[in-house]
Amino acid sequence: MNRENLVLLPDPRADAIHVLHAATAIYTAEPVVNQLLELLQWPQQANQLIDPSCGDGMFLVRALERLLAVVDVHDDQALLRIQGWEIHPQACAEARQRITTRLVLAGRSATDAAQMALAMVHNRDFLTESPTTPSWDIVAGNPPYLRWLNVPQLLRDEYRSVVPGYAAMDLLYSFLDRCTRVLRLGGRIGFVTADRWLINDQAANLRERLGQVVSISHLERLDAKTAFYRPKQRHAGTPPRVHPVAVVLASSAQQTTQPLTRQAIYPGVDARRYAGLPTLGSIARVKLAPWLGTAGVFLVDAVTAATLPAEHLVPVVDASDLENGQVRAASRYAIRTKPGVQPPIAIQQHLQREMSRMSNRGKRTSPWMPPESFHHWDLDRPSLLVPRIAKSPQPYRIEAGRLPIGHNLSIVCETKTELECVEGALHHPLATSWIHDHAPRLEDGYFSLTAPLLRRLPLVIPD
Ligand SMILES: C[S@@+](CC[C@H](N)C(=O)[O-])C[C@H]1O[C@@H](n2cnc3c(N)ncnc32)[C@H](O)[C@@H]1O
Repeated sequence: MNRENLVLLPDPRADAIHVLHAATAIYTAEPVVNQLLELLQWPQQANQLIDPSCGDGMFLVRALERLLAVVDVHDDQALLRIQGWEIHPQACAEARQRITTRLVLAGRSATDAAQMALAMVHNRDFLTESPTTPSWDIVAGNPPYLRWLNVPQLLRDEYRSVVPGYAAMDLLYSFLDRCTRVLRLGGRIGFVTADRWLINDQAANLRERLGQVVSISHLERLDAKTAFYRPKQRHAGTPPRVHPVAVVLASSAQQTTQPLTRQAIYPGVDARRYAGLPTLGSIARVKLAPWLGTAGVFLVDAVTAATLPAEHLVPVVDASDLENGQVRAASRYAIRTKPGVQPPIAIQQHLQREMSRMSNRGKRTSPWMPPESFHHWDLDRPSLLVPRIAKSPQPYRIEAGRLPIGHNLSIVCETKTELECVEGALHHPLATSWIHDHAPRLEDGYFSLTAPLLRRLPLVIPD
């Protein structure tokens, strides 16, 4: 055919796979791979090994290296004990090339080695095409992590019929679920993964289901700066935005150390440090402060506040009012309305004028109510505010009458003495270390704090 006649047809599936790969290709550094293969006792203690999402083949080539120490390079059957699957054609080709090079180095001819690599590494989708019955003794690798909503729609549609609901929040969950199905009795899964499936409440059902097949025989945190060698789409030197762990899951037939249940698991945490201490939730009320929507509607500055009836205004505080342990004087106000009660005419006019600016998320059917109402908040007592994104649970004292907003955490006690005790306990180093052990990690040493989490915070009450 004449070259000019070649027309490239659009291939939406190839495009979707490309997007998926770009979003998930964080490859594992060699020392981490070696450590996992050692823990898995490959190849001595197992017959068949698979990396279900092999990327450019680091797990495969390190597994091959260890296998070649005990089998002959010309023994095809022995080499086929290693299998890799990879959805992305180019990454798959890179993995095959790596295997080929290693086999040539060990003495196979180039053609022969390339054929072996083709038989070992498959360009296929592990979620839809892998067997659903026990097929491998070892599953090793670094499965893709990607929130379900970020998986290209075309692939999500394909996965919908094969991924059960409890595993459909993140590709990582889907892979963990699928990998426990392909694991033979007595087998082990050795993975580098993001820590989210161990910690997130959302993964409780997944943990419970996995726990019916496997339990944890090894778990440790890894340093994101050194665990990966080609972080996805990052500037050179910046670590990927995951909090990795190395985990070995052993099928229940083996002696293991830690069962997997609905309970969250916090890698490396010694629970005895916190045993016997009262929790914040047993002493105080911890609430999520309301979000009032787009500024200028229910949340107004001092200039607008001066045009509205003062008895319907409440001074507010959020993280932008906090600095160096101090709380700045109020400069913004919330308009207080009640369900089913018409506000004064000046407030009605203000809300009618400004409501079109409210973000969709903040719109409510009741025209006088903010996105999250606070008319029932008791502001008669001083409270403590803990920012929802923080490095420690540092409390800020908020005077009575001032409303915390913006999904920060508000703590109220029955008495002033109790509030002071709680304030002291939140400053204690143990409170910070508990948060570091238990809160979801964000970037740059920050943690995400929620009301359910803070209620569980153990307190060292000062004498
Ligand atoms: C985090 S990388 C890990 C690669 C390799 N295991 C390593 O540790 O270096 C994940 C890989 O999974 C691949 N992947 C994503 N979804 C897949 C699927 N459904 N089936 C097979 N591979 C998939 C991506 O293309 C990407 O190369």
